[in-house]
This record gives sequence, C-alpha cells and structure tokens, in this order.
Amino acid sequence: MKDRVILVSGGASGIGAETCTRLAFAGARIVIADLNADQAQASAASIVAGGGQAIFVPCDITNPELCEGAARAAVDQFGRLDALVNCAGISRPHDSISLPPADWASMVDVQLNGAFYMAQACAKRMWAKGGAIVFITSTNAEAAFPRRAAYCSAKAGVAMLTKVLAIEWAEKRIRVNAIGPAYVDTEMTQRNIAAGNLNEAQIKARIPLGRLAQPGDVADAVSFLLSDQASFITGHSLYVDGGWLAYGYF
Ligand SMILES: NC(=O)c1ccc[n+]([C@@H]2O[C@H](COP(=O)([O-])OP(=O)(O)OC[C@H]3O[C@@H](n4cnc5c(N)ncnc54)[C@H](O)[C@@H]3O)[C@@H](O)[C@H]2O)c1
Repeated sequence: MKDRVILVSGGASGIGAETCTRLAFAGARIVIADLNADQAQASAASIVAGGGQAIFVPCDITNPELCEGAARAAVDQFGRLDALVNCAGISRPHDSISLPPADWASMVDVQLNGAFYMAQACAKRMWAKGGAIVFITSTNAEAAFPRRAAYCSAKAGVAMLTKVLAIEWAEKRIRVNAIGPAYVDTEMTQRNIAAGNLNEAQIKARIPLGRLAQPGDVADAVSFLLSDQASFITGHSLYVDGGWLAYGYF
C-alpha cells in the first residue's frame, strides 16, 4: 500500500473508517469522501495524528459532479489516484407494500447510482496507469431479507456492476471487485438493533462463526483485494460473512 492514493467513500464511519485507518497505517494516502463532515474530519485527523496521511473531501455520492470533485481533489492533493473503496451506504428497512417511491429511489440512488458515479469518476483518473476498485455490497446481494427490497435489489445491482466494469476496464488494468459482509458491528447495525429492525442474538445464532463481523474483518479483505496479492482477481464478489451464505440447514 506504500504511497498509494486511495479514495474511500463513506470513510467517516464504520467499515469505511476502519478501512481508512488500516490502509493509512499500511502506508497509503487516504482521501475520505463523505456527507458527514464532522466525523470525516475526525477520522482524517486521527490518521494524521498517528503519522499517516489523509484528507477529507465533502461528497454526496448521489451527485456525479461531487464524485468528480472528490476524485479531482485526490489528484490535486496527492498527484494521482490508485484505488477506490466505495463504502458509503444507508439502511432503511420498510415494508414493501407501503414503501414510498421516494424512499425506493433514494436507496437505489445511494447504493447503486452512487457506486457507479464514484467508480466512473475514479476510473477516469486510473485510465493511464491502472488501479483497483472495491465496492462494499452485502450478503443481501445474494440473500433476500424481508423489508429490504430496495437495499437487496441495489446491492445485487452493484454485484453485477462489479462484473461489467471488471471486464470493460480490464484492458486499462483497472481491477473491480466487491466485498459482501454479513452483519458488521457498526453504527448502522447498532441503529437497526435499537430501532427493533434486528435481533442481535438471532443474528449470532444464524451465523456459523457465531458472531457479528468486526469492521476490521471487512477492512482486511478490502486490503487484500486492493493489494498486488490479488493482481489476477477481478469481477469477483468475496463474502465476508462468517458462513452466512453457506448455511442452508434449519
Ligand atoms: N453494517 C453492516 O452490517 C453491513 C452489512 C453489509 C453491508 N454493509 C454496507 O457497508 C457499507 C458501510 O456500512 P457501515 O455499517 O460502515 O455504515 P455506517 O453508517 O457506519 O457508515 C456509512 C457512511 O456512509 C456515509 N454516507 C451515507 N450516505 C452517503 C452519501 N450519499 N454520500 C457520501 N457518504 C454517505 C455516512 O455518512 C457514513 O459515514 C454500506 O454500503 C452498507 O450497506 C454494512
């Protein structure tokens, strides 16, 4: 990772924040693109305080111009862009029968449209020298959960987007992969537990490895897919799920 310039959308919190920290302490220079300015600035500051390099760029990934701006800021600040980790996301479970169309649209906008806008903006800066993109999808790209029609559909869309971009951009030596976590112990999950959308004991019982994922479990898999150790891996979704998708018994 030494000196690589890596843009992390959603790097203010949860999986994104942990990914920024681990990549920075492996020597990468980090650009955090997030809606949440206070938390993103704190993430960048804690990396800098620890001797790493990081900047924050305000960005709403549903706006293609702001995605362009974030990718441009990475090159302006650090002279190049080597990788994107697209972590920004939201979770808003709702019964499908009464889901307002605007809520459907905003979920697809953040999870699927935003992933594409960010990938396009960053790939333009990798066009000459190659690079790597990792999308954070979910086990929900494969497994249907109730009250998550828009989330599951959008994540499945990103899993297919991963394959399409991988084969299209391979000739430019841009690798495109996805990581699909099961439940991760982040603010998103804690908000869903507090709102009664999730039962933590049930989740742990459903996961063969018997625990929630930690953000570091996901960050380690991201690091691997970005690294030269994964130089012949593209178009792949790697599920970091403690065995969730493999489990098919009672
Ligand atoms: N937490 C889980 O259990 C879990 C499981 C599977 C997949 N995921 C996925 O992992 C990703 C990260 O989730 P997390 O648990 O770390 O969530 P989190 O809520 O802790 O962090 C999400 C970050 O994304 C940012 N964000 C949201 N919308 C944005 C937008 N439009 N533009 C820019 N930034 C935006 C938020 O400000 C926040 O910093 C999401 O895509 C989520 O769907 C999470």
